[in-house]
Amino acid sequence: MLLGVNIDHIAVLREARKINDPDPLDAIGLAIRAGADQITIHLREDRRHINEYDVERIIKHSTIPVNVECAVDPDIIEIIGDLKPHRVTFVPEKREEVTTEGGLNFDEPNFANLDKSVHYLKAREIETSFFIDPTKEAIRASKTIGVKWVELHTGSYANIFAMLYGNLRHTPHAIKELDIERSKLQKMLVKSVQDLQDAAEEADDYGLQVAAGHGLNYINVDAVSNIELIKELNIGQSIIARSVFTGFENAVKEMVTLLK
Ligand code: PXP
Repeated sequence: MLLGVNIDHIAVLREARKINDPDPLDAIGLAIRAGADQITIHLREDRRHINEYDVERIIKHSTIPVNVECAVDPDIIEIIGDLKPHRVTFVPEKREEVTTEGGLNFDEPNFANLDKSVHYLKAREIETSFFIDPTKEAIRASKTIGVKWVELHTGSYANIFAMLYGNLRHTPHAIKELDIERSKLQKMLVKSVQDLQDAAEEADDYGLQVAAGHGLNYINVDAVSNIELIKELNIGQSIIARSVFTGFENAVKEMVTLLK
């Protein structure tokens, strides 16, 4: 299993003070030493963490592939197209969201915009990926447009897991819709893993490479990493959170060990 380490949250800490420390660029060498296979960053329209200066320097200095996530925004796509990362992952983006809430929507005009953007990047020899919910419709649309990868959104699995096995339901951040009987949550958890498994099979049948990510951590990652057809996980928040206590290199190493 390949690990893409999402380092956006290092920039979140920097932006808390609007200064130049910590610098996400400093994470690259440590991530590589710890066994990471890829660096993932998200250039958001509101630049709330990573900015184009980071993207440019990270692409220039990283000796492992850089996967840049972005919305279908012509200005951002032009910036990234010129910087030529290894891969671009298209994600839906809403200004008011705390993090990417769901997979891409393929209804028109989104389908046409995604199609145009993918072809723009392919012409620049940049790999493309779609962040999608684990559904047949999303996989078929991804195949039709012709991306190389799909990244399955594991947020729903992670939320159910956190409400079932963690203390989230006893905190101010409890997820209201999931504040239900444990027996129901247990069934939902099984179904969420089955959905990921089915989607991975469907994508593989179509010849798509399969990644997954969102909300994965040291406790919940097993069920997803055991799905053989998923080749890569992109993990960010939990690794950076652990880094606060154990250091970034140790935190990445621990995740690499779990994935083995
Ligand atoms: N993959 C994608 C496409 C994402 O948008 C994100 C969040 O930026 C991640 C993976 C990583 O999610 P997390 O920070 O919850 O591990």
